[in-house]
Amino acid sequence: MNILILGSGGREHSLAWAVMQNPKCDRLIVAPGNAGIAQIAECAALDIENGGAVVSFAEENAIDFVVVGPEAPLASGVADRLREAGILVFGPSAEAARLEASKSFTKEICDAAGAPTAAYARFTEAGPARDYIREQGAPIVVKADGLAAGKGVIVAMDEATALEAVDDMFGGAFGGAGAEVVIEEFMEGEEASLFVLCDGQNILSVGTAQDHKRVGEGDTGLNTGGMGAYSPAPVLSAEIEARAMDEIVRPTMAEMARRGTPFQGVLYAGLMIRDGQPRLVEYNVRFGDPECQVLMMRLGGQALDLMHAAAEGRLGEARVNWADDHAMTVVMAAKGYPGSYEKGTEIKGLDDLPEDSRNMVFHAGTKAEGGAILANGGRVLNVTARGDTLQEARDRAYAMVKAVDWPGGFYRRDIGWRAL
Ligand code: AMP
Ligand code: GLY
Repeated sequence: MNILILGSGGREHSLAWAVMQNPKCDRLIVAPGNAGIAQIAECAALDIENGGAVVSFAEENAIDFVVVGPEAPLASGVADRLREAGILVFGPSAEAARLEASKSFTKEICDAAGAPTAAYARFTEAGPARDYIREQGAPIVVKADGLAAGKGVIVAMDEATALEAVDDMFGGAFGGAGAEVVIEEFMEGEEASLFVLCDGQNILSVGTAQDHKRVGEGDTGLNTGGMGAYSPAPVLSAEIEARAMDEIVRPTMAEMARRGTPFQGVLYAGLMIRDGQPRLVEYNVRFGDPECQVLMMRLGGQALDLMHAAAEGRLGEARVNWADDHAMTVVMAAKGYPGSYEKGTEIKGLDDLPEDSRNMVFHAGTKAEGGAILANGGRVLNVTARGDTLQEARDRAYAMVKAVDWPGGFYRRDIGWRAL
């Protein structure tokens, strides 16, 4: 099989790493890729949000199967264009991608599916939104309806912050994404994520994970794309996972099929768990980043078979071959992230690190220049390890982190603290 993966982050490096382990993969191209991905696969420049360009590229390169990493191409209909051209693709249609691209759409689906989630109201004007916040009081959560690169959610612990968020959103701080605003009840509990493949009809869990969104140790400081993750998430016990499947994921997928817009790809259910009850925080229509890195570390080469089965509508017969293992990834970021940071600082010591089925440094934002690896983004490396226990995975991951010689970077020392 000739395979094309779209994307350029640590998520796509881990997908490429897993896919390459499967003998069914004859040729792998990642577009646009990054310096780490280029060490294991071909990389190609391509505008991945342009469906026509992706279809032409796939046809020219005799691609049999396309895996879409990030949400933006999905929201812009790249999977639709590929399907129209008869090319097999893992990733939902633009209509089904609204589960991530529109928070009010997700709320509407939850209502129709009876899925437990935060109480909410939606607004297209600041006045009524401000009134609602004053009525409800804080804490309260204000969300821009559309895609805002992970920045459109304000968890306001006081009323003033919530009112300011409303003004920012309607003032255009998030462009078109803030034209509609969803205001939600603040949910308390412990957060974890459930990842489920769906072929439009059948669903299959491919694991649970917990991310660390705040930049600072002890979950303090600004929100980031994620500073580290581990899998499985102990808070999502088999019982609670079954409940989340029965009460949230299955009814959502059934509702999407009923509407004539079945979901095919990976559904990332962000859950808040309290007193044994999971409630939906949000859906994403792609693997999480860095959650994907720990899932791929555990799934290895079978990830390709599972994604392929989802794309071909054969998930009913697919099974995950689980090992009783744990994985952890520690994100190394450029100093200053998630604020402004320097690009181009040199990273040394990567060549001496182990690269095997238990240890791998995935590149999130790097570039190669004259034989050197340079930081080329905010989140730069995902140092990932697997072990028989979470403690073992953690020890291995941090041993590798310590061997990376990168004065321009930093990392959290407490990834996994909730579970250990
Ligand atoms: P994201 O949408 O990925 O930017 O993340 C939003 C984050 O805000 C979630 O991971 C939660 O930590 C938090 N959040 C979102 N909605 C709620 C809610 N209704 N109650 C409490 N926390 C929330
Ligand atoms: N790590 C959070 C996300 O991928 O949305």
